[in-house]
Amino acid sequence: MRDQQNRNVSPFDLWSGSMMANSARDPYWRAAVSAEVAATPSQKSHIEEICSRCHTPMAAPIPSSPEGQVLAFLNEDHPKSKLGLDGVSCTVCHQISSENLGTDESFTGGFVLNTERAIYGPHADPVTMPMQRHVNYTPQRGDHILTSAMCATCHTVITHSYDENGRQTDAILHEQVPYLEWRNSIFNDEVTTNAATARSCQDCHMPTTDVDGQVISTRLAHNPGGRDFPFLRDRQPFGRHSFAGGNVFMTKLIRDNRTKLGIATPVDAFESAIKETQKMLRTQTAQIAIDCVTSDNGETLAVVSITNLSGHKFPTAYPSRRAWIELIVTDDKGSIAFASGRSNSKGQLIGDDGHVIDSDIAAGPVQQHYHRITDSKQVQIYETLMADEDGKPTFALLRGSEFLKDNRLLPKGWAENHADAESTRPIGIASDIDFTAGADKVAYQLSLPPGRYKISARLMFQSLSNRYMAELFEVDTPEVRTFKTMYDSADCVPEEIAVATCHAIKD
Ligand code: HEC
Ligand code: HEC
Ligand code: HEC
Ligand code: HEC
Repeated sequence: MRDQQNRNVSPFDLWSGSMMANSARDPYWRAAVSAEVAATPSQKSHIEEICSRCHTPMAAPIPSSPEGQVLAFLNEDHPKSKLGLDGVSCTVCHQISSENLGTDESFTGGFVLNTERAIYGPHADPVTMPMQRHVNYTPQRGDHILTSAMCATCHTVITHSYDENGRQTDAILHEQVPYLEWRNSIFNDEVTTNAATARSCQDCHMPTTDVDGQVISTRLAHNPGGRDFPFLRDRQPFGRHSFAGGNVFMTKLIRDNRTKLGIATPVDAFESAIKETQKMLRTQTAQIAIDCVTSDNGETLAVVSITNLSGHKFPTAYPSRRAWIELIVTDDKGSIAFASGRSNSKGQLIGDDGHVIDSDIAAGPVQQHYHRITDSKQVQIYETLMADEDGKPTFALLRGSEFLKDNRLLPKGWAENHADAESTRPIGIASDIDFTAGADKVAYQLSLPPGRYKISARLMFQSLSNRYMAELFEVDTPEVRTFKTMYDSADCVPEEIAVATCHAIKD
């Protein structure tokens, strides 16, 4: 399938470079599952069942292997392990029925697959004969495939926490809730009040236009010999199955280790996924602005404003994601006079002295949310931090009882009185009146010697927060060791989302 410029837009080729296609081979997922089991060994089979529900949906629940282990099972030559390894594949999304969508039962992998071998798609009157004859599936129109609630079945992850003894606590963590965040935003298309601004997950993550913005119109199938079926006509809209989000880092890591991971996908598929993800991060994610003022008492104030453009919080979803502001003040000789949020080539946050700051070291203190920053060890990091049952910070998913901190940027239109406010509420922002629906402002209070300065602010993003990795690498399992080897040789430079500059003169 081709766009107007003859570029490949075939679902399989685009999908194969996506994180969803690689969700079962993802070495970070495997490391995380093994670390969860190591933290709560008595709940092993339960943990493995939960963790495979969305990441290996075609094999889940995974039948017990000789070792009784999901990860071992995936390495076996069993037909079901091959299905599991295919990740979130075509026949998962396309067989999800409309039953229960949007309700609490549908969340945390609670989708219901139809049992009639129906393949749902968005188009009316599909020609059924070729698919029935070749693969014994019947394509049929199912408008629910276009709903955000369909994606929400796996993209709403709500977990019960376990204490050190493997006892389930009463606490429920809203670990990943982009759909609930989206419902409480101007993008929600389930209500009529957002007509002008409504956008579904598919609208942003499966664009129906090509990379130049031209509407795609193509036949949906060729016969197995590669020729056109004579009786099919071009269809539109046609959603590109690239599923770009923010995970440049893991897409690169998987590309570079594809042979070791047993992935046959050609390099090109990863290259275009990386490009598309970077474009999404740089053009559709957030904006930054900076305003420099010198006050009467001689202090320089740099006020940085961030606006969230995405359809949910930024960052959203998996708790290891973080964004932060890097603010650098240089004098006219090019020397750094102040810096907050600088990072090194390992993706670690460093202070003025070039050393890794304490909050990026395992078991170190955590950064609070700031309204005003006065010291280079203070960094505005937009992130979640989980707390265990005793209120202590934890980096193990199933130890998480609640969030200690959640100052991720709210989506535009987020409202305090919405039904989803409780499960998406910011935490630890105290009385910061500049933290509003869709935006935040931070003031950097600088005491600079007389001179001319350039102040630049960059919004940075890391899918795998260095602090999370520091904690994960404390755990010793074969899967964590394998992942660490890949991580250590990866390019850890964070992604730049947006940048702004201003100038200040101090007499
Ligand atoms: C994450 C869920 C998901 C996965 C995985 C997925 N699809 Fe789709 N597919 C959709 C959605 C949603 C649409 C409707 C998109 C639109 O038209 O905007 C769609 C539409 C289609 C269409 C109709 C053309 C169109 O865009 O309307 C075809 C053909 C198709 N998919 C084939 C595939 C194949 C082949 C695979 C596996 C390589 C696949 N899909 C994997 C969700 C998925
Ligand atoms: C309800 C579905 C669901 C369940 C259950 C689930 N996950 Fe996930 N997981 C996801 C989705 C969706 C993402 C992608 C979110 C994102 O990109 O931010 C994800 C992302 C991840 C990532 C990040 C991968 C990367 O490459 O960055 C890890 C690690 C992970 N999950 C581990 C686990 C573990 C461990 C468990 C079991 C305790 C688990 N997941 C259970 C849906 C699920
Ligand atoms: C059967 C479960 C399932 C369904 C349904 C599903 N996803 Fe996913 N999705 C996942 C998992 C699991 C991951 C994480 C894979 C990983 O990182 O290892 C993921 C990751 C993603 C990512 C993250 C990519 C990145 O670069 O960070 C995006 C975007 C995404 N999905 C979009 C969608 C959209 C849009 C839909 C609905 C059309 C959808 N998903 C439906 C399970 C699902
Ligand atoms: C207005 C456009 C828009 C809409 C609507 C939207 N997203 Fe996104 N999404 C983005 C952008 C931009 C990013 C990249 C920035 C980021 O990573 O958060 C993103 C990132 C993501 C990621 C990856 C997050 C990460 O960094 O790991 C997931 C998962 C995701 N979206 C899921 C969804 C789901 C599910 C829906 C529907 C409920 C949805 N999105 C609706 C724009 C959108």
